[in-house]
Amino acid sequence: MIYSKIVLNKYLRNLLKIGGTSFFALGIVACSQPKKPLHLPKTDLKEATLVPKPLKTVPTFSAFALDQYTSIHTPANGSLDAIAQFLSEKIKLKTGLDIPINTAEEGLAQRIIYINQADSLKTKDNEAYQLYINKDSIILNAATSEAAFRGIQTLRQLIPEQSNDTLNEHAIWPVPSGKIMDRPNFGYRGTMLDVARHFFDLEEVKKYIDALAYYKINVLHLHLTDDQGWRIEIKSWPKLTQIGGQTEVGGGKGGFYTQKDYKDLVAYAAKHYITIIPEVDMPGHTNAASLSYPILHAGGKAEKPRIRTDMKVGYSSLHTKKDTVYSFIDNVVEEIAALSPGPYFHIGGDETHVTQKKDYVDFVERVATIVQKHGKRMVGWADIAAAGIDSTTISQFWRSKENAITSVQKGAKLILSPAKKAYLDMKYDTLSKHGLSWAALIPVDTAYLWSPETYSGVPKEQILGIEAPLWSETIATLSELEYLAFPRIIGYAELGWSVPENRSWEGYKERLVGQQSYLERMSINYYPSPLIPWNEKE
Ligand code: ACM
Repeated sequence: MIYSKIVLNKYLRNLLKIGGTSFFALGIVACSQPKKPLHLPKTDLKEATLVPKPLKTVPTFSAFALDQYTSIHTPANGSLDAIAQFLSEKIKLKTGLDIPINTAEEGLAQRIIYINQADSLKTKDNEAYQLYINKDSIILNAATSEAAFRGIQTLRQLIPEQSNDTLNEHAIWPVPSGKIMDRPNFGYRGTMLDVARHFFDLEEVKKYIDALAYYKINVLHLHLTDDQGWRIEIKSWPKLTQIGGQTEVGGGKGGFYTQKDYKDLVAYAAKHYITIIPEVDMPGHTNAASLSYPILHAGGKAEKPRIRTDMKVGYSSLHTKKDTVYSFIDNVVEEIAALSPGPYFHIGGDETHVTQKKDYVDFVERVATIVQKHGKRMVGWADIAAAGIDSTTISQFWRSKENAITSVQKGAKLILSPAKKAYLDMKYDTLSKHGLSWAALIPVDTAYLWSPETYSGVPKEQILGIEAPLWSETIATLSELEYLAFPRIIGYAELGWSVPENRSWEGYKERLVGQQSYLERMSINYYPSPLIPWNEKE
């Protein structure tokens, strides 16, 4: 629907009623401020380097002057106040401006950013939003706080890095005017971080979350356990972290999240409208668990547990026939599920080379009932297609297309993480300082140039979305993590959010250059791919 000026004015009148004053009173008070007509640059909203690219953009070639006389306004019920606070903080960080919230009635505002609860948008999508940017007002329409949060990210990207100090007496940050109608292509837009091969602490993961949210990613899957380390406190099995948490690839000291830490991380992610999906990988990738509690160890072909700091895979297994093992899993799932408000629990299930197929199938089916008992939907790497899985299950495609298709034929929904396209731990090229290359070399264009809608041969309706995993065998620091993730993850964010008609490598490349100032301002280490026409660093 095209919004007319009349509708916009109605919004403003409503806003000002909520603000406790009348439209005209505000106008009069506003006039009492030192006010010369502002000189606004001509802009073109279509040229904005937004990533992900919004569904629809209509420029009006003027600008909203973000300045010290701007205030943010929210509905009286308070439901969007936290979003307004978030926006105000981010504007302060970028511009230095102190933008007050809900002070329009005090007559200080000449310009208003109104975050409006617009229930009708919910019928489109939980994350759908509209932005109307005019000379004196920005109206963000959203039915949910989640949608408002996504819209705020777009607005953040539209605020120029530098103020315009030459045209006016005071600094303004001209935001290009026009309309944006937007909603996501996929509801699930994720990334995975392996904190098991190398541990990343709370501050490091939080910094990563800040950037993920900026690009509208809404899922962070944490690979919490593997052969080299167990990274989450389980109160009923304390040795998992006392013993299993003390090592990592390369022989470093490892580490783990206490349950308090994990809760803190979940809450931080939730504040950024990101769901944490916990993964406890089993029955393989369990050396650290069996090292902590040898009773869990499968024996047979599985290698005897010992401290592992190497990168080998596929040699460990839980015992699939012992009741103790299922009591263990029940306790672990129960404790983690209680800390994880999201709907999913990931059981891993990959690379079980020393588990008999029949035992694997029985194991996955038994674990599925445990996950369901604790109120979660089971996610597993697509190897779980071998088991009897049901329509509540989610299968994650990583290597075998056949497994992906079989899971969907059995009723599961699919997450796309094809290693050849979406594994963030693959090297960019042979010269990359970090990363592996077993699946492919993935330069920035290869990462972007594929179509999640058609790649797996599974109908789009069965696809939840995409996830880019970052395995951490070759990265030990946040800076190394960022080097592999950025800039590729920005492209994955676009593949998840933007419709195919809005995606093109040529356009994306230019818009990616527009992200450079954000990455540099946030001290995010990125790989300066020669495929991208970066600006020279200052
Ligand atoms: C995997 O890369 N082993 C899922």
